[in-house]
Amino acid sequence: MIILAFESSCDETAVAVVEDGRKVLSDAILSQADMHALYGGVVPEIASRKHVEAIAGLTDQALAQAGIGKTDVDAVAVTYAPGLIGAVLVGVSFAKSVAYGLGVPLIPVHHIRGHIAANYLAFPELEPPFLALAISGGNSLIVDVRDYTDMEIIGATRDDAAGECFDKIARVLGLPYPGGKPMDLLAQQSAGGKYVLPRSHVDGADLDMSFSGLKTAVINLVHKAQQKGEELDAAALARDFTRAVSDELVPRTMEAARRTGRRTIVAAGGVAANTIIRADLEQACREMGCTLYLPPLKYCGDNGAMIGAQGYYEYQAGRRADWDLNAYATMELNEK
Ligand code: KG4
Repeated sequence: MIILAFESSCDETAVAVVEDGRKVLSDAILSQADMHALYGGVVPEIASRKHVEAIAGLTDQALAQAGIGKTDVDAVAVTYAPGLIGAVLVGVSFAKSVAYGLGVPLIPVHHIRGHIAANYLAFPELEPPFLALAISGGNSLIVDVRDYTDMEIIGATRDDAAGECFDKIARVLGLPYPGGKPMDLLAQQSAGGKYVLPRSHVDGADLDMSFSGLKTAVINLVHKAQQKGEELDAAALARDFTRAVSDELVPRTMEAARRTGRRTIVAAGGVAANTIIRADLEQACREMGCTLYLPPLKYCGDNGAMIGAQGYYEYQAGRRADWDLNAYATMELNEK
């Protein structure tokens, strides 16, 4: 089954062709990051306009790279939630018109489900059930993936997402947007151990996380140093900050594995590209005898192929959208 898939929830316009949920025939992506970097973060209105400009050309490119024609497409999949509402709306509107024009089914895909499904593209042997740590610019979740479309959130951030936190701290340290990768590179230049940063605990929900206290602590630390004219060790701070983020994520994921009895752990989302978090997950899984799947870097960030992968399994489960499909800025990943 050939699925033409669209992703436009943030600042990447992406169109892909995926066969049977596992084989990527093409994966065309146009990132707007350089443009948003001028403003230190994503400007929603610019993102929407850039998606409008890019999406038709990328669709032609994806079909050409896959070596197929429009009539070979069996279904269209699209991210319909969550994301920047104007940006998601562009993908949804375009996908609707393509599916309608071709007379093929339209499949709505939750963005985070897509991130998790990126692993199916990289690891042919991977099948649910497993536990997923989904960490991106807008979400930080521990998810029990019982089946391809049957998932339960068992831990979530109560405030900011991990990626958002990386981006904010990078900004106060004067690093470019998006800040995750530059922070990653900076952290590798130091062994850290210089700055004491808070860890969170959510009473009565110990698998839930919180990043806003950590974010505020680092921002205050930087501002105080600036006011006093003290020199900051930015590399050590990046390292200690990343360690604190990893301490929020990795022990809770392993505890979730203990409680659910899952022995397969899957990482997903942009923050899953982080060197220290990947190493910590590897070590923790080794110690606990769990099998770990870390997506290749190209499948950590937003892409269309992951939507094609999840779209296939949503289709198999009978999921179809009507022509009145809407876009949603927020939506739980197990919400219908
Ligand atoms: O999954 P993604 O591409 O988009 C969303 O769905 O949100 O995630 C983007 C986030 C950004 O916050 C970016 O700074 C972060 O992932 N990121 C990283 C790294 N690479 C990207 N965070 C930490 N370390 C990285 N190497």
